[in-house]
Amino acid sequence: MTHQRIRVVRLAHVYYQHPNLQTALDFLGDFGFIEQARDGVGKVYLRGYGEQPYIYVAEQSPDDSRHFLGAAWAVETRSDLDIAAGVDSATPIRKNDGPGGGEIVSIKDPNGMFVHFVHGQELRQPVTGSSLPVLEKTVSVSNTVTRKDRKGDFRRFTPGPSPIHKLGHYGYGVPRNNFKLTLNWYLKTLNLKETDSVFNPITGDDETCFLHIDLGDQFTDHHSFFVAATDAPHAFVHHSSYEVNDFDTETLGHDWLLKKGWKNCWGLGRHVLGSQIFDYW
Ligand SMILES: [Fe+2]
Repeated sequence: MTHQRIRVVRLAHVYYQHPNLQTALDFLGDFGFIEQARDGVGKVYLRGYGEQPYIYVAEQSPDDSRHFLGAAWAVETRSDLDIAAGVDSATPIRKNDGPGGGEIVSIKDPNGMFVHFVHGQELRQPVTGSSLPVLEKTVSVSNTVTRKDRKGDFRRFTPGPSPIHKLGHYGYGVPRNNFKLTLNWYLKTLNLKETDSVFNPITGDDETCFLHIDLGDQFTDHHSFFVAATDAPHAFVHHSSYEVNDFDTETLGHDWLLKKGWKNCWGLGRHVLGSQIFDYW
């Protein structure tokens, strides 16, 4: 264990292996990802329209199960890679093969899950008002009960996937007796801080914790990572989530996924803790 924290600035990408890669890619396309590149060994790199050159790596699973091979965080400086490389479980720092290049190092958390750190990736142009992909063909003005700014104009939308901006967060369910160990490991190893905890009054313990990236006085997302105590025997990725622009965009994507025959888990809805609109598939 290192004593100096690895200072991360944002999430970079997640890495999944799928038992049926083509079905997964069909879903991911309908979900709103854009295929950026494929390498010669079966990795498919998918992006959003944000700065990261890719946010999702998909490849064929070696067996009949889906596997999560960890998430990558962009670090602030090259020396953060050295700090990561000093962790007991660390790989050497190596060239990052994905779009944008840079360097990457991987460590394992107490559950054996990979945590990767990237630096020096060439980024895409940040999105601006004029480059924001919009599904609305008309002017985005909403009337309310007290204010009617849209008079005599309609609102019309193009059906399709919700364009994804960036990777929002991911998190693990872990065996209950590993919860505190896992939480403390992430708090000590990265510059993550607790935002909200879910407390169980029956056991007297916290059982889910949402963590944000600590960038001092700069605001960051409510959470980029979470960990939850579960009755499962092994740690598992609970979900990863992706940011879209607004409620209309999310609703259009929801309808698109339904039309394509995909199965909704939960949503649309709004979370209490982070206030974000959600839609789980
Ligand atoms: Fe979430």
